[in-house]
Amino acid sequence: MVEEAPPSSLITLCIDHLANQLLFGEDEVIAIIPVIYELPSHLLDDLISRLTPHALYHFHLHMPFQDVNEEDFSRDDSTNNKRKRSRDWNLNTAWQKLFELRWPDLINQIQPSDWQKAYWEAHLQNCLDEAAEIALISPFKGRLADINISESILRHIGFVRLAEHEYDKYSKLSYHCLQFGSHVSCLRLQNILCSAETTRLLRECKLQSMVVRCIRSVEQVNGLCRLINQHSRTLTSLEFIHCTLYENFLNTLLDSVVRKSVHKYALQKHGLQHLSIVSSSFGPCTGSLPTGLQSLLSSARSMCSLKLCGSRLGRNFAKALFVTLLSVSSCISVLDLAENEISGCLSHFNRRVPSYLRESHIGIGESLQLLRVLNLRGNNLRKDDAENLGYAFAYMPNLEDLDISDNPIEDEGLRYLIPYFAGTSEMCSRLACLKLEACDLSCDVVNHLLDSLPVLNGTLKSLSIAENCLGSKVAGALGRFLSTPIEVLDASGIDLLPSGFLELQNMLTIEEELSLVIINISKNRGGIQTARFLSKLLPQAPRLVDVNASSNCMPIESLSIISSALKFAKAAGNVLNLDLTGHDWDYTPELTSLCTEFVHNGKPILMLPVSSATAAPIDHDP
Ligand SMILES: *[C@@H]1O[C@H](CO)[C@@H](O)[C@H](O)[C@H]1NC(C)=O
Ligand SMILES: *[C@@H]1O[C@H](CO)[C@@H](O)[C@H](O)[C@H]1NC(C)=O
Ligand SMILES: *[C@@H]1O[C@H](CO)[C@@H](O)[C@H](O)[C@H]1NC(C)=O
Ligand SMILES: *[C@@H]1O[C@H](CO)[C@@H](O)[C@H](O)[C@H]1NC(C)=O
Repeated sequence: MVEEAPPSSLITLCIDHLANQLLFGEDEVIAIIPVIYELPSHLLDDLISRLTPHALYHFHLHMPFQDVNEEDFSRDDSTNNKRKRSRDWNLNTAWQKLFELRWPDLINQIQPSDWQKAYWEAHLQNCLDEAAEIALISPFKGRLADINISESILRHIGFVRLAEHEYDKYSKLSYHCLQFGSHVSCLRLQNILCSAETTRLLRECKLQSMVVRCIRSVEQVNGLCRLINQHSRTLTSLEFIHCTLYENFLNTLLDSVVRKSVHKYALQKHGLQHLSIVSSSFGPCTGSLPTGLQSLLSSARSMCSLKLCGSRLGRNFAKALFVTLLSVSSCISVLDLAENEISGCLSHFNRRVPSYLRESHIGIGESLQLLRVLNLRGNNLRKDDAENLGYAFAYMPNLEDLDISDNPIEDEGLRYLIPYFAGTSEMCSRLACLKLEACDLSCDVVNHLLDSLPVLNGTLKSLSIAENCLGSKVAGALGRFLSTPIEVLDASGIDLLPSGFLELQNMLTIEEELSLVIINISKNRGGIQTARFLSKLLPQAPRLVDVNASSNCMPIESLSIISSALKFAKAAGNVLNLDLTGHDWDYTPELTSLCTEFVHNGKPILMLPVSSATAAPIDHDP
């Protein structure tokens, strides 16, 4: 008899044994890792697929190829390189699989190039969140470093039924911080973690992005300053959420961002690019811009995004902010001041602008040249503010994205702005996205807007006029507007009614391809005319992927109109999401099966209301 290959169960046994041995990364095992890498690739792949994260960590860490390549260039380099690369790639895939197994919900939200980094970053975040919870709920006296990480987290990375001495070593927060920290560059930290001790725990990290929550005491501010100092070489993004930043707190914190790098080389300023303060408070009566923020903005050549949202800035704060940004000729490209009650903050733009500047639209040394995105949503801005905003456009020659939703600027306010949006002055010539949701606008002014916008150089790609009570009389202008190069249109809650949808249908008779990609016509009480409109729209808009037609008082007969339109348009069109929720429908089995035939990548295209029979129990929820 010919000698047979060893039975596969034996191989499996060996591989499992090896995989277990790798878990703790003891010296003897590390020593044979180079030999393991010489295994035939199918065995190696099998082994890799059985490794727990902690075992793969050792296996990856001691991968021998790097050294071979670096030490010996004379050997057949190309094959080594090739093999190294392909193995490397395999390990990255292995990390990706482990990530997906543990955080299936997160996998679609990120696209890292280095999955091992992503894995340990998320792992350490889990550990820190857990530790923060423990430290916050119990009257915690001990050291953060000694907090025991839960069995469930330990099990994820491969630690099951640890012996006591192993548990002592591997369960501590400090182990996880120090062991995996070098892979970690983004963290979210609860206030309790902003302490001197954390500086020691995070010393291996090279933090680029820090999100801190609920900073409220001077101890936390001091702890955070130490962390900021520790990572000032790498830190580019700092975000505060639910913090109380009294002026002296903010000054201390921002000084610690600026200080270090400034005295090192006079020219090298700090590298912070994003500062964000969200849902926080600056304490009582902030009349002006805190000096820390002022000096940060003045020294910050690298700062490109500033978000101060939902933090009750007040008019004077915001006014001082604009003055500072103008006087330093800032490089900010994203400025987000949403939800702040800053009505009046643009008043100084009114007369200060000399007319020659308004015309040349670039103030010398005094502009927000790079500003692309401006968000002023929810600030109780009124018509005067809208007028001043028009003057302010002179300083923002590159504005692409403007959101002034949720401000009662009313018709008069929008009338001031239309000439800018319509490109009759050379300002706003790059505007691509405009949001005017819930601005108390009427049909008259919106008709005017819609008919003026197309003049704008074809740059406008996205418009929202949602939540303004416009009525069906806007349908004519809206229909004409649809045939401009607009790609995203939000016309939710504008009360189009059946007559509006009927008029829109009649306007779609032209043999013309629309550029539309996303449309929201929800909450318009359109009844069955909504469905008829869609059945005309779909064949004419081949690029349409996202349609929101929810809450339109459609009867269930609409469903067959829409589904036959979908079927018809399927060959040309590619609608991926069609929201029909918010209707009171009782399905017949035929309708249900009709709907299941529309699927994309395994996901249903139609979002349907739950039938009233199944919805009934939900209604009883308090
Ligand atoms: C962690 O677990 C060990 C062993 O069970 C225990 O002795 C220690 O007190 C725990 N540490 C903390 C901070 O609870
Ligand atoms: C028209 O738009 C392009 C970008 O698409 C821009 O480069 C150009 O300056 C604009 N022209 C005018 C007159 O605003
Ligand atoms: C459709 O629009 C409604 C508002 O009318 C909104 O609540 C809903 O989230 C939107 N659907 C999708 C899928 O975004
Ligand atoms: C309209 O629907 C889109 C998704 O289809 C959603 O992103 C948007 O927020 C909705 N608009 C409103 C005003 O709810």
